[in-house]
Amino acid sequence: MSQSMDWKAVDLTLPPPAQEPERQYYFLARCREQVERLREENGRQPTACVTTFGCQMNARDSEKLLGILGQAGFLLTEEENADFVLFNTCTVRDNANQRIYGRLGELNGYKRRNPKMKIALCGCMMQEPAVIEKLQKSYPFVDLVFGTHNLYKFAELLCACYESEGMLIDIWKDTDQIVEELPTERKYPFKSGINIMFGCNNFCSYCIVPYVRGRERSRKPEDILREIQALAEDGVVEVMLLGQNVNSYGKNLDKPVSFAELLREVEKIPGIQRIRFMTSHPKDLSPELIQTIKESDKICRHLHLPLQSGSTRILEKMNRRYTREQYLELAQRIRREIPDIAITTDIIVGFPGETQEDLEETIQMVRQVQFDNAFTFIYSRRTGTPAASMEDQVPPQQVKAGFDRLLKVVQETAKAQAAKYQGRVMEALIEEINEASPGMVTGRLSNNTIVHLPGGPDMVGKLFPVLLDECHGFYYTGHRVP
Ligand code: 5AD
Ligand code: SF4
Repeated sequence: MSQSMDWKAVDLTLPPPAQEPERQYYFLARCREQVERLREENGRQPTACVTTFGCQMNARDSEKLLGILGQAGFLLTEEENADFVLFNTCTVRDNANQRIYGRLGELNGYKRRNPKMKIALCGCMMQEPAVIEKLQKSYPFVDLVFGTHNLYKFAELLCACYESEGMLIDIWKDTDQIVEELPTERKYPFKSGINIMFGCNNFCSYCIVPYVRGRERSRKPEDILREIQALAEDGVVEVMLLGQNVNSYGKNLDKPVSFAELLREVEKIPGIQRIRFMTSHPKDLSPELIQTIKESDKICRHLHLPLQSGSTRILEKMNRRYTREQYLELAQRIRREIPDIAITTDIIVGFPGETQEDLEETIQMVRQVQFDNAFTFIYSRRTGTPAASMEDQVPPQQVKAGFDRLLKVVQETAKAQAAKYQGRVMEALIEEINEASPGMVTGRLSNNTIVHLPGGPDMVGKLFPVLLDECHGFYYTGHRVP
């Protein structure tokens, strides 16, 4: 949709249209009236804040939520004592859930001082029935709760929240709907995430995502390309294609398309200079994709390829559907074909039944692949997943010791990998001015490494060749060269 819609043209005397996205535009127009009324009552423009927990998908969803709030007439802020506060939650590990409960207590404090404040919760955690029960019982000050499947109805829910009292809860079990053309409010003017698919069909045995995000659904390539085209026209130079498993993109469309084909189409869009994507499942990464990355000028030299474990026995229990040898062979093939590529990964320590030997195999794998970075997680038991009911859960003390050992090796290899490019000239997209050191800016290389260099605000959002003077562990300092 156009970001500047003529809201007066929406006839609010008529009943809401049944069709999307028209229905949401109608409710947005109604929200605008509510916000206007609040403005008159308060004598100032109402503010709204969205706080994001979790992954890139949630970050993108939050841009959509902010888009709606902005169009509704709220002044957007990052302060959580705003008039409308929304937490977009994550539930992939239990510590993420616990953080939400703590933060909700803080919000309640703000609400006591500003009784008209509305508190809303959405995202993956809300798809868990136990969470909803707990909210109803112990957090009655929450005004609105919705899940991942009906996010596109946010305008309608926002409107209902202002037109009713008490906690409004709307959670769907699933959906096959993908609603296009809703407003968004981008965090960065020059880069943007784009959802290419929703949900996941893999059912890794530890993972709650398939239960809270539903089955895999791909957006049509023409919708994705149209969105990217519009972003490019709006000044975006870097796009990040988002999905839980981008390598299986398009398989279930009426006219199947491969992920590599989609990438080649994105590459043709003028103005787009960098293409990233996340996340790849090793089992579906095709030779066609490797070839496409190799031949591309725009696809960044970075592949996030979650390993999870280096032990075939554990991988099998995780239902990952590859072996240690298959992963290693794949990583080596990628490094051979695209020598400058950075490979990053996710690893879980303490999966049920994991022994010292299994962990040794994971550590050895980190050394063999020489990961450029790895996110290491302590296994978290998620209710409803097959792994949660496995008998041989590992005691926490044992997990912690193994985790620390793994982390040390990960840091060693990551440092060694980062140092490889010292003295080289590489292109960096300047992302922000460095608040801490005046006269410096921060950029990102194609391989995702950060570089700090002298520069000013006029460089932000543009690409420059940078000489990488010195590697400081995980980042570089450098300077711009002609
Ligand atoms: N416990 C720990 N880590 C998990 N992840 C997913 N589920 C769990 C869990 N139950 C990690 C995986 C995944 C990343 C996004 O989060 O490593 O790749
Ligand atoms: Fe979870 Fe596995 Fe799907 Fe990733 S691929 S979201 S780890 S089930």
